[in-house]
Amino acid sequence: MPDANPLLFTPITVRGATARNRVVISPMCQYSAEDGIATEWHRVHLPNFARGGAGIVFTEATAVERIGRITHGDLGIWSDRHAEALRPVVAGIHGFGALAGLQLAHAGRKASTQRPWEGNSLLTDADAKRGDAPWQVVGPTTDPLQPSWPQVHALTVLEIKALCDAFAAGAQRALAAGFDIIEVHAAHGYLIHTFLSPLTNRRNDAYGGDRNGRMRFMLEIAEAVRREWPNDKPLFVRLSAIDNHPEGWQIEDSVVLAAELKARGVDVIAGLAADRSGRQHAVVAASAVARARFPGPLGGAHQT
Ligand SMILES: Cc1cc2nc3c(=O)[nH]c(=O)nc-3n(C[C@H](O)[C@H](O)[C@H](O)COP(=O)(O)O)c2cc1C
Repeated sequence: MPDANPLLFTPITVRGATARNRVVISPMCQYSAEDGIATEWHRVHLPNFARGGAGIVFTEATAVERIGRITHGDLGIWSDRHAEALRPVVAGIHGFGALAGLQLAHAGRKASTQRPWEGNSLLTDADAKRGDAPWQVVGPTTDPLQPSWPQVHALTVLEIKALCDAFAAGAQRALAAGFDIIEVHAAHGYLIHTFLSPLTNRRNDAYGGDRNGRMRFMLEIAEAVRREWPNDKPLFVRLSAIDNHPEGWQIEDSVVLAAELKARGVDVIAGLAADRSGRQHAVVAASAVARARFPGPLGGAHQT
């Protein structure tokens, strides 16, 4: 006999936020913003998930600074004008009974690319001619994503500190726009993940080296965001829980990081494997972190 009232459809409370069920709409890039500003697309698309019954609806990766976008079409939250444009999106999600989550993000060295339907690769001269100019991307070191791609600007310590402030400012603006939940995007080879992974972080200063050094940027961001984000509002972090590479970030690293994040007021880890790994793997990775560090009614991790 199927369960008449499965756990999935029961409410869940994290801090002061109660979702009517545990269906979470994952952050999904729409490439439909204008200079990072939400458009009619977002005002229709996101509330529609709430109308369909989801408990929590997340925005796509929303960049904390202009150069943190993957493409020219990504959402951003680097000015008050950006927050203002998100207010009706939040109102629409609330109007249909769901909680609204915002994913704070920085694409790092995976930034400055074409929208998928324009090629999904580096921006070209032709893109620049129609107004989509490429920009200098940043990361822990100068190594590009692919050998043929332009060099990356290795962030200085001052620039790293400024980025922690940018994440904090993003949190302030998310609050002003009315969001209930923030998720920090630390997965998928974007900026924070490249600091965590020994495959991409070869710095020899305080933000590189051993695991503590590589975790420092993530932990300072978590502290900065939590300082701005009210105590009664949940904070999530999305991790690539494993790199799926023998010399990469391992599940044991994620278990340690999850404990450090929990100590800094992070409530939920959305644990995934890196892009090249399969779904089954992601679920195993997520539940290992959850069992170790986030026991509780949500299972501590969602597969989003
Ligand atoms: C069109 C699309 C856009 C996505 N954009 C984001 C994003 O902005 N941030 C993010 O963390 N994941 C993003 N993802 C990954 C999804 O959130 C999700 O983790 C992935 O699709 C795996 O879940 P699934 O197996 O249910 O598809 C995106 C996925 C898709 C299909």
